[in-house]
Amino acid sequence: MVFIYGAYGFTGKQVVEFLSKTKVDYIISGRNEEKLKEIFNKISGNKPREYIAVSTEKISSLRLNGINLVVNTAGPFLDIGQGVLDFAYNNQANYIDCSGESFWAKKLIDQYSGKFFERSIFLSSGVAWETVAGELTVKKLIREVGAENVRGKTIYLVYLAEFNMSPGTLQSSINIIGRGAMLWNKGTVKIVNPFERRFRFEFKNKNFLATNISSSDVLNVPLSLGEIQRNIDFEILFATKREYFIGLMKLFSNLAKYKIFADLIKKVLDRFPEPDEARSPASALAFLLDGDKVLHRTVIDSKRPYRTTAKIMSYFIERFSEGKVKSRGYRAPTDLVDFPEEILTSD
Ligand SMILES: NC(=O)c1ccc[n+]([C@@H]2O[C@H](COP(=O)([O-])OP(=O)(O)OC[C@H]3O[C@@H](n4cnc5c(N)ncnc54)[C@H](OP(=O)(O)O)[C@@H]3O)[C@@H](O)[C@H]2O)c1
Repeated sequence: MVFIYGAYGFTGKQVVEFLSKTKVDYIISGRNEEKLKEIFNKISGNKPREYIAVSTEKISSLRLNGINLVVNTAGPFLDIGQGVLDFAYNNQANYIDCSGESFWAKKLIDQYSGKFFERSIFLSSGVAWETVAGELTVKKLIREVGAENVRGKTIYLVYLAEFNMSPGTLQSSINIIGRGAMLWNKGTVKIVNPFERRFRFEFKNKNFLATNISSSDVLNVPLSLGEIQRNIDFEILFATKREYFIGLMKLFSNLAKYKIFADLIKKVLDRFPEPDEARSPASALAFLLDGDKVLHRTVIDSKRPYRTTAKIMSYFIERFSEGKVKSRGYRAPTDLVDFPEEILTSD
């Protein structure tokens, strides 16, 4: 049985919509009973078994029989993810989420991988457009140039950041930029200042400026590459056509270090409308560099990152329900399931 927390959020309800067209046995959950009831009544097709209203503070003590996968779509995860993660562990269930927060992924790896391993269950963060788009793009780059030509080099994974964001994503972004950035240095993770790096490139006849802001890909991508992870430097950058945007983000990142300010912005962002996905391109570009010189570049264009995230999660859940996902401890998403590239590029 699959347990979905955050089922009526922008991402959660799209996951539920996909699952209603499958044979997966699932329960929906979240903190608001009214919203759960509304979505439960709306679903036609494969309905969830039941809905369970429970807060993130109380969920860890909830015991349910027969749950073997917990799917968490309620973020920001560093703020509210702990209870749902403990719920999975306490019920001896596997755990996945759609977080892009690098420090959340680091916590799962450092503090939970061993515990989950001992119980023969797995956990994975970033089962979403990001990091699956990043993992697939970098793997494609390595296939194109050959693994032997990557060793000793640097890979930049660059996302175009100009898509419309949901309140949950904007709130998670405050966690991402407020906590610093990470750098993968041949198997070691270093914490650095965000916005330190500047990287210019042309894409589709437009000039972009990228800067380093780490999402959970900074860990998931190298982990998904096997032994090559110890031979490369790797970094995540976000690119924009509007240079002032980077100055603005830098200002926010300095302010977001103060909890009172971060909490205030998150409250304001909670009132933001749902994003217009039609205006959301979401390309991932992987650059292979030797020093400053770009040796190769690979792109996977995708659209509608939230819909893609729901597709990725549902694809994962279906494979899991068919008994095809078996592992233990922390795993990068593409280590658990082979996602086809079309999952990113198709509508
Ligand atoms: N990595 C990726 O590519 C990717 C893609 C999509 C989403 N995400 C991440 O997924 C998360 C959700 O995104 P979204 O677009 O679905 O956001 P959203 O529409 O704002 O939904 C957020 C969900 O979290 C719940 N929530 C918020 N605070 C809560 C709390 N204190 N206790 C219990 N539930 C709480 C909300 O429920 P209420 O209505 O009750 O507040 C809602 O169900 C974000 O962190 C986002 O960054 C990542």
